[in-house]
Amino acid sequence: MNTSRLKFGKSIRSQWLLEEDVIFLNHGSYGATPRVVLEAQAEWRLRLECQPVRFMRRELIPALRAAATELAAFMGARGEDLVFVDNATTGINAVLRSLVLAPGDEVVATDHTYGAVRKTLIFVCDRAGAQLVEAVLPFPGTDDAGIVDAVARTLSPKTRLVVLDHVTSPSALILPVERLVQLCRERGVPVLVDGAHALGMLPLALERIGADWYVGNCHKWMCASKGCGFLWASPRVQSSTHPTVISHGLGEGYLGEFDWTGTRDFSTWLSVTAALAFHRSLGPETVRTYNHELVVWARDLLAQSWGTEPCAPERLLGSMAVIRTDRPAQEAEALHDYLWDRHRIEVPVIPLVGAAWIRISAQVYNESEEYRQLAAAVNEYRLSECRK
Ligand SMILES: Cc1ncc(COP(=O)(O)O)c(C=O)c1O
Repeated sequence: MNTSRLKFGKSIRSQWLLEEDVIFLNHGSYGATPRVVLEAQAEWRLRLECQPVRFMRRELIPALRAAATELAAFMGARGEDLVFVDNATTGINAVLRSLVLAPGDEVVATDHTYGAVRKTLIFVCDRAGAQLVEAVLPFPGTDDAGIVDAVARTLSPKTRLVVLDHVTSPSALILPVERLVQLCRERGVPVLVDGAHALGMLPLALERIGADWYVGNCHKWMCASKGCGFLWASPRVQSSTHPTVISHGLGEGYLGEFDWTGTRDFSTWLSVTAALAFHRSLGPETVRTYNHELVVWARDLLAQSWGTEPCAPERLLGSMAVIRTDRPAQEAEALHDYLWDRHRIEVPVIPLVGAAWIRISAQVYNESEEYRQLAAAVNEYRLSECRK
């Protein structure tokens, strides 16, 4: 099917398996995979099972490297610097658990760092007697200069690593990673960028960012099947970067160590080329523009409808945004459940700086009417709470 002729919104939604009666405004958490990509994944599975030994011994690695090269090229990088991992969590664990920290060392992250990454940081710091130092980002009222200042203030001669989100999870903000990486490199501090949300949402030029490591997901905004993440490592750090699972490839270099970590289903990694083809058929820039314009429009509509203010300038948004409600943080779960149980609206409600915030996603299968329904449903909840 020639997807380039499809319009976005409702008319393209049948390309996904999403249930018809659901208003799905949470592409950000796990992504959603189109049928064509799942079909391509199934074909790889069949190919393996026709002759598993031939596939694993002869066909797998060339196919894996070809997929890695295509994915890397899409992000302005070289295939030999990119390996597949299950997800951003696995890639970040590989980097952090390869670090050799000493007592008194410091690792910097921000107070908007993803919860699971923060826990991994605490784990590696505690084991070494090192310290996690958190840069407190200005929020709401975020701007680029404030972000750079906040990170700069946390750097010290003891800093061994800075971990930066490309797009933050709880607040959906694009951090100015190029400026931040430059700042850290001027101070001689290595940087790991957590780009879990970036691929498919933002144009990416990994080499230009200049970080030491860049970790990302293909299963979120690139719509690959679940369990498709990547780790890009600069050549200067590849020999000291190891997977968390050690296998036959130990001693055979970066690619050797990561490409084989034991027998597994490789079909999600191999079918990433189908996700790239699907994305290309829609037009990467067309997708980004549609999603960004829709999310900014929806954010303004929702903020106005709920009588709250936008938290950051439009340029810091990709295809997600958070909007403050006037409900307290303790009501986040109740509000989420109300929206799902009464209205079949799937959207995350996040407790943040004392209030319940709603994080909307805009993917090509979404359209404006869905956000209007969200506005009305939250207002209905607010009214019912006020009457109590
Ligand atoms: C910023 C950030 N980092 C890491 C992750 C973890 O991603 P995964 O569950 O695919 O490992 C997420 C998930 O939403 C995220 O938002």
